[in-house]
Amino acid sequence: MAKIVFGMAVPHSGMLGQAPEDWLKNGERDRNNPQLWYRNRTWTYPELEAHREAAFEKYLTLEERTARAARCRAALDGMAAAYRDAKIDIAIILGKDQKEIFTDFSPSIAIYSGEEVHNGPPQRSVYAPDHHVTHPCHPQLATYLIDHFQKEGFDLTDLFAWPDNVWMKPLPEYPVVPHAYSFVYHQIMSDDPPPHVPIIMNCFYPPTQPSMSRCIEFGRVLRDAINAWPEDVRVGIFASGGLSHFVNDEEFDHRIMKMLAEYDYDGLAAVDDRSYQSGTSEIKLYVSVMKAVQETGAEMTLVDYVPCWRTPAGTGEGMGFMYWKAAD
Ligand SMILES: [Fe+2]
Repeated sequence: MAKIVFGMAVPHSGMLGQAPEDWLKNGERDRNNPQLWYRNRTWTYPELEAHREAAFEKYLTLEERTARAARCRAALDGMAAAYRDAKIDIAIILGKDQKEIFTDFSPSIAIYSGEEVHNGPPQRSVYAPDHHVTHPCHPQLATYLIDHFQKEGFDLTDLFAWPDNVWMKPLPEYPVVPHAYSFVYHQIMSDDPPPHVPIIMNCFYPPTQPSMSRCIEFGRVLRDAINAWPEDVRVGIFASGGLSHFVNDEEFDHRIMKMLAEYDYDGLAAVDDRSYQSGTSEIKLYVSVMKAVQETGAEMTLVDYVPCWRTPAGTGEGMGFMYWKAAD
């Protein structure tokens, strides 16, 4: 029977591929964002900077940025090594679309049941190699999962062909996979992922976001489905997301990481849903993985937590790198 042996939760921020010299450029995007989510409401940039008293100015020196970028690089290398050590045969990758492929509709939870994914230019080098590549998916497992989830009260959207990725300019001949997935292929799996199933959870955009409780339940059903898959394979489950962003909140992130390490579902579900908005919503993907791996006896390994800053108001990304390795 199939066995879950590994889980991983990794941030997929573009900052991870940016020279520290360039980090502050993205701050411009934050300054122009009229809806920065922080502490259960949205703020304009000037409101946020005044409220937080520009306290993060001290983290914006090139020296600070360089040190944090180096820590992120080391953490990613550690994550990739843990992935290789786990020697998995099949992967499930939980990610999300950021209006890259779903521009006219918003499925709550979609699963890709086709044969392959595409990656390559013009996707940025943090996400893709410099040439077109295809990677194998697992239609048979995807179809099995759709059936299993249906019996357990989840009606998944069956995505059998990738729409074009409209973030790509110019639009290439092939449909580049959303960045949440390409990051995992490129940074964790050395552009050589095993047969896998991408699952696209709309954590980002109201009103079709699954709640935290629903994502916990999703992890349970995923676990039971894999455990009942009649093939003798080692399975790894990956969440591609992040902690607080695009407003960093270190205190919040530490609270979340403690609950992730302690399998504290009640605590995670009790957090106000307005705290899980914008990029911070990707914590829900981390929690689905946590639920799916718990029965293996795995303890969470926190490789590193590195808040990366790009404005005095404290915008940027809270990078949390963690994995769960099943007890032998
Ligand atoms: Fe994100």
